[in-house]
Amino acid sequence: MPLPTINPTATQSWKKLQEHYKKINNVHMKDLFAQDSDRANKFTITWDDFYVDFSKNRITEETFNYLLELADEVKLKDAIASQFSGEKINQTEGRAVLHTALRAPNNAEFYVDGVNVMPEIHQVKQKIESFTNDVVNGNLKGFTGKPFTDIVNIGIGGSDLGPAMVVESLQYYKNHLTTHFVSNVDGDHVNEVIKKLNPDTTLFVVVSKTFTTQETLSNANTIKDWFLKTASQEAIAKHFVAVSTNIESVKSFGIDQNNIFPMWDWVGGRFSLWSAVGLSISLAMGYNNFDNLLNGAHKMDNHFKTENFKTNIPVVLALISVWYNNFFKAESEAVIGYSQYLNQFATYLQQGIMESNGKSVDRNGDAIDYETGTLIWGEPGTNSQHAFFQLIHQGTKLIPADFIGFVKSLHGNQDHQDKLTSNFLAQTEALLNGKSKDEVIAEGTDASIIPFKIFKGNKPTNTIFINKLTPESLGKLIAIYEHKIFVQGIIWNIFSYDQFGVELGKQLASKILKEFGTSAIGNHDSSTSNLLNYYKNLS
Ligand code: F6P
Repeated sequence: MPLPTINPTATQSWKKLQEHYKKINNVHMKDLFAQDSDRANKFTITWDDFYVDFSKNRITEETFNYLLELADEVKLKDAIASQFSGEKINQTEGRAVLHTALRAPNNAEFYVDGVNVMPEIHQVKQKIESFTNDVVNGNLKGFTGKPFTDIVNIGIGGSDLGPAMVVESLQYYKNHLTTHFVSNVDGDHVNEVIKKLNPDTTLFVVVSKTFTTQETLSNANTIKDWFLKTASQEAIAKHFVAVSTNIESVKSFGIDQNNIFPMWDWVGGRFSLWSAVGLSISLAMGYNNFDNLLNGAHKMDNHFKTENFKTNIPVVLALISVWYNNFFKAESEAVIGYSQYLNQFATYLQQGIMESNGKSVDRNGDAIDYETGTLIWGEPGTNSQHAFFQLIHQGTKLIPADFIGFVKSLHGNQDHQDKLTSNFLAQTEALLNGKSKDEVIAEGTDASIIPFKIFKGNKPTNTIFINKLTPESLGKLIAIYEHKIFVQGIIWNIFSYDQFGVELGKQLASKILKEFGTSAIGNHDSSTSNLLNYYKNLS
């Protein structure tokens, strides 16, 4: 069954939400808390080691019910079933969307075109596991007989951001191998990484689903040339492995057939860290940790698939986000992890959220006249408190924010953890309550600066409080956001799993690149022509 094609703005619940918005727009959350002593409990979901408090939002039970009605009216339940059943819900590319199969137990069944894909997934996982063990234990050696010390992941977008974020987030669990990531076509990136490497002890993992991506192939070729300055052609088989669906192109790059880790077209790039694209994760911290990451995501998949929408974490977070995006017209959302380990999390989410839901044509092929994908940004707390929080607290924009924190610290320094957590809790309290004129006066503030010290408050936040940062809890957290993306795409009636918007720039770049080598230049607007000539003359 294809995905439903319901215009959300034509639903009864949307109309109810529009009317309701007019009433609630001027309500302060402070009053909602004062009126209902049970508010926090009503709007909190506890699940496994997660405590998700969404009570500090500009919602009432009435709002929440209308949002839940919206989920029903757009047939979210059917859409979830379609996704998990392997239907080709990525209709514009004719593909199933089954990243959830990658983290399911081996005895699960997921069918694509009538074939159960689990045995194939299991085979690749076994290959990842034994390769990881051989590299980590030093059984596999480089061309001079030394064990590997460094891993370089060469990829971009989904072939870089997911593994890079996970390796950064879980660095506490890392082994002795040093992991590097090369993504940008900017030669300075690859050259800075090369400076840190010895060719004879470095393993290169070239990750590209299509194996046609300019950045990845350029970086892989530059690294290969550098490698061949000290090593022989045969040594490539020991030092280069690839993850791709395009086996022929990998082989013509020179990578040994045995060193290819396959992936499948039913895994979207930005949802692929659970596949062999996560090989560098497995190498960095061992297969068991990689497997625990997958298990965590699988637990969240089950929660998403089976839990009533009212207590379904990804569904609730998606609905609240739609509420702000489409009714309050909030332009962006912030994600603030109260853990330095999560410093790449917002960057990773940017691709997931904005490449998926940055669409302006609906599933009928018609132009959309309502808002879709949110802008996403963020940095860890407490650093961000000293950077952009001023604007969230006292600026003119409404910026709903997710606060993600952990009860336990990994290094066990309770003094730091208490200070960190006190900030984590204080910020959402301050954003909720603000500070009134009376409070400012009561502090003995000089009359001339009273207006500047008033905080309106009423700034919405979700608090995601997790027991501890582990591979499993990170897997759950990532899966929450993946499913949130899907739910929002369903509500907005868009296709979340294609990304045609990135193609035009790529095509024009290859046209311009050719023009650098000729005296004539093609047909461009005058601005681009001037810039092109400026570069040609000076470079
Ligand atoms: O940015 C476009 C995109 O196609 C992403 O969706 C993808 O993750 C990235 O490029 C890299 O693609 P590939 O893995 O094929 O090199």
